[in-house]
Amino acid sequence: MSDTKASNQMWGGRFASGPAAIMEAINASIGFDRKLYAQDIRGSIAHSEMLAETGIISREDQKKIAHGLNTILSEIEAGKFEFSTRLEDIHMNVESRLAELVGPAAGRLHTARSRNDQVALDFRLWVKEELQRTDAALVALIEAFLSRAEEHAATLMPGFTHLQTAQPVTFGHHCMAYVEMFARDLTRVRDAIERLDESPLGAAALAGTGFPIDRHMTAKALGFREPTRNSIDSVSDRDFALEFLSVAAICATHLSRLAEEVVIWSTPQFGFVRLSDSFSTGSSIMPQKKNPDAAELVRAKTGRINGDLIALLTVMKGLPLAYSKDMQEDKEAVFDAAETLDLMIAAMTGMVSDMSINDAAMKRAAGSGYSTATDLADWLVREAGLPFREAHHVTGRAVALAEKKKVALDRLSLDELREIDSRITDDVFNVLSVSASVKSRTSFGGTAPQEVRRQIRYWKKRLKQGATNRKLR
Ligand code: ARG
Repeated sequence: MSDTKASNQMWGGRFASGPAAIMEAINASIGFDRKLYAQDIRGSIAHSEMLAETGIISREDQKKIAHGLNTILSEIEAGKFEFSTRLEDIHMNVESRLAELVGPAAGRLHTARSRNDQVALDFRLWVKEELQRTDAALVALIEAFLSRAEEHAATLMPGFTHLQTAQPVTFGHHCMAYVEMFARDLTRVRDAIERLDESPLGAAALAGTGFPIDRHMTAKALGFREPTRNSIDSVSDRDFALEFLSVAAICATHLSRLAEEVVIWSTPQFGFVRLSDSFSTGSSIMPQKKNPDAAELVRAKTGRINGDLIALLTVMKGLPLAYSKDMQEDKEAVFDAAETLDLMIAAMTGMVSDMSINDAAMKRAAGSGYSTATDLADWLVREAGLPFREAHHVTGRAVALAEKKKVALDRLSLDELREIDSRITDDVFNVLSVSASVKSRTSFGGTAPQEVRRQIRYWKKRLKQGATNRKLR
C-alpha cells in the first residue's frame, strides 16, 4: 500500500491501509450473514450429494466434502471457527476452511453453483425456519387467549368505541377479538411458507447451468416442495423476505394495540388488570408504582419492525434483474425483525397468561356511561313498536334525565321513564342491567357468553386441525 493511500487526509480516516480497507469494510457481510452458517452447510451438503449422484463429481470427493462441512459445522457451533472479514461472507468463509480441511476436493463443491443461488437458498431456508418459529409462537399466544376467554366468557366489561364506554361486552369476547387477529396472522405466516417453498439452488449465477444437475433432487433433500421455475427470478427474488417482514409488521401492529390496552387497563384509573411481578417493574423513586414496561416496549418495538419492512422495500425497488449487490442489505432487516418479533410475541403471551383480572372493577365500569342506552332503544323498537330513530330520541331524553339526576339508567323510576314516553312498561328493567344487555346479544359473533363459548369451541377445533392443515381455515 503506497503512503499516499495510507495517509489520505480527505477520506482515509480510520482506514489506515487506504482504499482496500474501505472496500473490505463496505463489502463484507460476514458480520451478520454468519447467522446463515447452518443453512449454508446444509445446502452445500445437499448440492455435493446431487453432484455425486449425477456423476459431476466423484463419490470420493463428495465424501471428503461432506465430512469437511460437518467438521466446520461443529467448529462453528463450538465457537472455534475463525470468521474473517477478508473472506467477505459466510459462503467464502466456509469454502476457504473446507479447502484447508480437505484440500483440492473442496474446489469441486462450487461446480454448477454461484454465490447468487447459494445466498438465495440459505436465506430462504432461514426465513422458512423463522416463519415456522413464528407459527409455533402464535399458536401459543392464541392458546393463552383461549384459556383466558374460557375463564372469563361471562365476565362483564365495558366495550369501547373512541375509547368512550359504548356497550357492555364480556372480557372473554374481547380476548376472542385478539384470537381472530392472531389467527389471521397465523394464516399469513402459513401462506408465506407455501409461497417460499421452492428451491432456487441450481439457478447458478442467473442463467442456469450446462452441467447435468438434478434440481428436483436438491429441492427434495432440502425440504422444499419443488425447484423454482425461472433461473433469473430465482436469484433476484426477495419476496419471501418482504413477505416475512410484511407479516411481521401486521402482527407487530396487533401486538402493539394489545400492549396499548394492557397499558391502559393496568392504570389505577382503570384497574381492570394487574400485571404479574414478572412482567412489570417498579419505580426507583415512587414506591407505589408498578409499571407496564414490557407492554410499552412491545408497543415501541413495532416501530423497528415497520422500519425493517420499509428498509427492504426501499432496497429492492428499482433493482434491475437479476442479482445486484444491493441485495446483500436484505439480511439485517430480516434478522432484526425476526428477533424482535419473537421477543414481542413471547412477552405478550407471558403477560396475557399471567395478568390477574379485576372482575369487580370491570363490571363497575361496564355499568357506567349509560352503556345500556342502546338496549333501551332496542326495547322501545321491539316491545313498543317505535321506529328506531324515534326510539333513539326517546332514549336520549332518558339519558339526559339520568345524567341530571346523577344516576344509572336502571335507577330511573318507571314513572320518570313513562313521563318521557308513556309506552314504556315495567318490563324495560329486564334489559337495562349490564348482564341482561350482554346476555341478549346472541347474534352470531355477538358478546353473549353462550356465543363467546361457541367461538372458543370453534377456534380450539380449528387449531387442532391446523396442526395437520397448513391452511388453518
Ligand atoms: N454476500 C452476498 C450477499 O449476501 C452473497 C452473494 C454474492 N454474489 C455476488 N455475485 N457477489 O448477497
